[in-house]
Amino acid sequence: MLPAFLLLTAAAAATPADGIRTFAVRNAQSDAYSADPATRMAWFHEEGTRVRLKYAERLGLNVDAIKASRKRSTVQVQNWGSSYSVQVDIGTPPQTFDTFIDTGSSDLWVVGRCQDPRECGMSKPFVPKDSSSFQGTGRIFNITYLKGETVGEWVEDVVSVGGVGIRTMFGLADYLTEWSTEQSALMGLGFQDASTGGEMPWWQAASANWTEKRWGMYLARTANWTDAVSNPSPQGGELTFGGIDRSKFYGDASFYSLASRRGLWTIPSQGIALQGRILDPTTVLATTDSGTSIIMGPDAAVLAFYRAIDPRAVAFSDGSWAYECGPGGNINASFAFGTPNEPGFGPPRLFEMWDGDLVFFSGTRAEFATAGVRLPPFMMGERYCIGNVMSWNDDTVSNYWLIGSPFLRNVYSIYETTPIRHGFAPLSFEFNLKYGDTYNPIQGGDGASGGGNSPHSPSAGGGNVTTDAGQGGGQATTKPSGAGRSGVAMLVGGLALAVWCL
Ligand SMILES: *[C@@H]1O[C@H](CO)[C@@H](O)[C@H](O)[C@H]1NC(C)=O
Ligand SMILES: *[C@@H]1O[C@H](CO)[C@@H](O)[C@H](O)[C@H]1NC(C)=O
Ligand SMILES: *[C@@H]1O[C@H](CO)[C@@H](O)[C@H](O)[C@H]1NC(C)=O
Ligand SMILES: *[C@@H]1O[C@H](CO)[C@@H](O)[C@H](O)[C@H]1NC(C)=O
Ligand SMILES: *[C@@H]1O[C@H](CO)[C@@H](O)[C@H](O)[C@H]1NC(C)=O
Repeated sequence: MLPAFLLLTAAAAATPADGIRTFAVRNAQSDAYSADPATRMAWFHEEGTRVRLKYAERLGLNVDAIKASRKRSTVQVQNWGSSYSVQVDIGTPPQTFDTFIDTGSSDLWVVGRCQDPRECGMSKPFVPKDSSSFQGTGRIFNITYLKGETVGEWVEDVVSVGGVGIRTMFGLADYLTEWSTEQSALMGLGFQDASTGGEMPWWQAASANWTEKRWGMYLARTANWTDAVSNPSPQGGELTFGGIDRSKFYGDASFYSLASRRGLWTIPSQGIALQGRILDPTTVLATTDSGTSIIMGPDAAVLAFYRAIDPRAVAFSDGSWAYECGPGGNINASFAFGTPNEPGFGPPRLFEMWDGDLVFFSGTRAEFATAGVRLPPFMMGERYCIGNVMSWNDDTVSNYWLIGSPFLRNVYSIYETTPIRHGFAPLSFEFNLKYGDTYNPIQGGDGASGGGNSPHSPSAGGGNVTTDAGQGGGQATTKPSGAGRSGVAMLVGGLALAVWCL
């Protein structure tokens, strides 16, 4: 742990004169907040697919199998998955773009000529001829980590974030598929090693001038689920380059050395914990990714997680899980970073996650049916939840967690370059806002729009955990119990055929 005095000294040195730049992050619209439950469910399914494709090369996943699993989708998902963005200026004079921030990749790219307006017509394009500082390279830009395709040219121009302009190489995408979102660009906040073109990410170039060699990020929760659709919150969080914002967290941050040199923020972890108890204290790897809206883990670990919450939890064929829950979610999970085996990587520490961040969908059997999900006959409880923790659906990935915004919304995250370390601290009380006493993300339908609007005081676990029906709680540490009976066909509405195990 970094001694407290060191942190304070660093913070004291961090005045604007040293180039510290703090600016707002926007929490943008996405079908994750759609009023139509079936659309939301389709978005969730697609998000799983998108994440698997994004990490397919890194993890050796079968791309054809992942793509094939999408074919049953009948609901058109309008938006790209992740929803945190910042304003980026490109060119001279500056053209301004709402730009996704993605710690899970390392390229910057922007929509250029949009050859098929049905695919990218919602996004404002960058117009090279309007910039006097623009320069093309003729080199093909082609990224494969997206669901769709993105092809264009590597180009160079002045890119400004928070008022700091740096000549940067970026991809100008002339051909895009499945980019139906108003954001025009994506900025990778990983390392140069992970850039598809071997280019230095903007933040790494900028860090040459930072007195404090680090940056920090706070991702806020969506304040008003109903409103989020028509009026994306401008208060989506905050990004600070060249320093950190101590007002956003309390106590000491814990720092972890990177466990992998493959270009992303990957650190040792002991996986997920319930009620403060680590389910499987084996050291694995975890990559944090602000461009992912779910948490994805090894199949066996995710099975153990949901079975410990509800012994009758069921898995869907897309890697998501449903379990019996009270209105609050009934999870109380933490993520464990660090490893006791090699103290050099950083001390083991649990970071709690609010239940509201870990539940994607919650409702009665009838409400699930409205969303196109038929629960199996033995699920006769009052209420069920689909969690934001998904399995890779590939048992070759046994030791790797991908940790998206459902976790990152619970901490202030710190990204250091000298030495390279990734850190977290619990959010300050006033920034750890939990909206609504109970969490019900189901929108519209009965008019009782979901997700309360009034922030209530942050409290551990958020909301009361109901432990009726002898299900919730999750004290058990059930290990995956081998193969069981399996059934078929729960998810309907053409989404996917589901298989569950008993
Ligand atoms: C882009 O990359 C993909 C995968 O490597 C390849 O199949 C495709 O032909 C490439 N497209 C262009 C225009 O280079
Ligand atoms: C660093 O600061 C100097 C002086 O202000 C400036 O000329 C240079 O462009 C800056 N470099 C970067 C990478 O920001
Ligand atoms: C949430 O958004 C809806 C739709 O815009 C609005 O009617 C409602 O008043 C908002 N609630 C709060 C607390 O702002
Ligand atoms: C949640 O787990 C923590 C341990 O991580 C425990 O201290 C707390 O009491 C639990 N909260 C609830 C509501 O069960
Ligand atoms: C939790 O339970 C306590 C005691 O029953 C009650 O006073 C409180 O209002 C409840 N809180 C929530 C968020 O339901």
